[in-house]
Amino acid sequence: MSKLSRIGIAVNSDLLERFDAFIGAQGYTNRSEAFRDLIRDRLIRRSVQSPHEEVVGTITLVYDHHVRLLPEKLTELQHEHQNTIISSLHVHLDHDNCLEVLVVRGKSNEVHRLANLLISTRVVKHGQLTVTTPHMHTLAGTHTSVSK
Ligand code: NI
Repeated sequence: MSKLSRIGIAVNSDLLERFDAFIGAQGYTNRSEAFRDLIRDRLIRRSVQSPHEEVVGTITLVYDHHVRLLPEKLTELQHEHQNTIISSLHVHLDHDNCLEVLVVRGKSNEVHRLANLLISTRVVKHGQLTVTTPHMHTLAGTHTSVSK
């Protein structure tokens, strides 16, 4: 557990009001937790941009399984990147469409390259990559219990 530091920051009242409304809508019950999450989010976003940083994430793909050879092509790509893709989930959305969620882990640049390759595949209707860090311990405060 890391040591807790208290800080005071000066914020424009209008900005604070908007921030409170925003975090209230998000479900936060106290400002400190919202600030901590914002700080972690900013630090993680920066770290996962480094090409050689290890990241974990998901690639979400929506595609029409009727399109000739597409499911085979996607399966082939997934086999080629079996070291990066650690799990996958397939949901039949409706008569035509499938949703696939791939859980990925690897160097940031490799994960981004794979996501771009899959998402840019012809007739993948929508795709999205979400990444975070597997190294939460490097972000101070993650396991800190804080009095409210
Ligand atoms: Ni399906």
